[in-house]
Amino acid sequence: MEILPRLGVNIDHVATLRNARGENYPSPLRAAKDCEKFGADGITAHLREDRRHIIDQDIFDLKSALNVPLNFEMAATDEMVEIACDVMPNACCIVPEKREEVTTEGGIDVIKNSKRLGKYIHTLKDKGIRTSLFIDPSEKQIKEAKLINADIVEIHSGEYCRKLNYNKNTHEELSLITNASQFADQNNLEVHSGHGITFDSIVELSRIKEIKEFNIGHFIISESVYKGLENVIRHFKELIRQNRA
Ligand code: PXP
Repeated sequence: MEILPRLGVNIDHVATLRNARGENYPSPLRAAKDCEKFGADGITAHLREDRRHIIDQDIFDLKSALNVPLNFEMAATDEMVEIACDVMPNACCIVPEKREEVTTEGGIDVIKNSKRLGKYIHTLKDKGIRTSLFIDPSEKQIKEAKLINADIVEIHSGEYCRKLNYNKNTHEELSLITNASQFADQNNLEVHSGHGITFDSIVELSRIKEIKEFNIGHFIISESVYKGLENVIRHFKELIRQNRA
């Protein structure tokens, strides 16, 4: 029987809500523990350089309290690699980061940043932390990720998901993700995908059998306002199961 893709829940936006009022609630840790209880296979959090949502203490609290794997999203900087080596998450996903962006806008350019990324991957792997690179669906980027020894590539699904949301033609974006996932898998890279995924976009993405993990945040927290975390997580897991089958 095929193993189903894992659902990683990104809890950054629980922290966004907390920070909007400068209070100590809602707690990202409480939300993460609930996600775990409701079937999340992992928890993802992005410590941004400007600390706009998750802060350092959140990451340490998550690591010590969670039973499921913690995926630490971070920019490619010395500071973040140092924090990762202290926290010791199960995996680090390296993402590009611009202060002025609302969210991670594109994948990291592995070719342009090859030397620096290679050095960070080496440091993290030495510590036993799996490393993932968040990339656009491009064979060139995948080849370079393999060359510098990444364990995982997380394929950016944002373009596909946004077009689907606005009822535009998604044929090209879906083919790019499908082809990139197959190419990465053939190159022995574990394939993840994330960004902008909703109940609608998970349907076709779940059918790409090379994808082993989805990381989903904004929609889960948003939809939970209406339906609660438990219903939303269970529904995502059910959609993944039905469509992978
Ligand atoms: N994967 C990566 C690498 C990301 O940077 C993000 C956004 O932080 C996500 C997944 C989750 O995206 P969303 O919040 O749109 O579901």
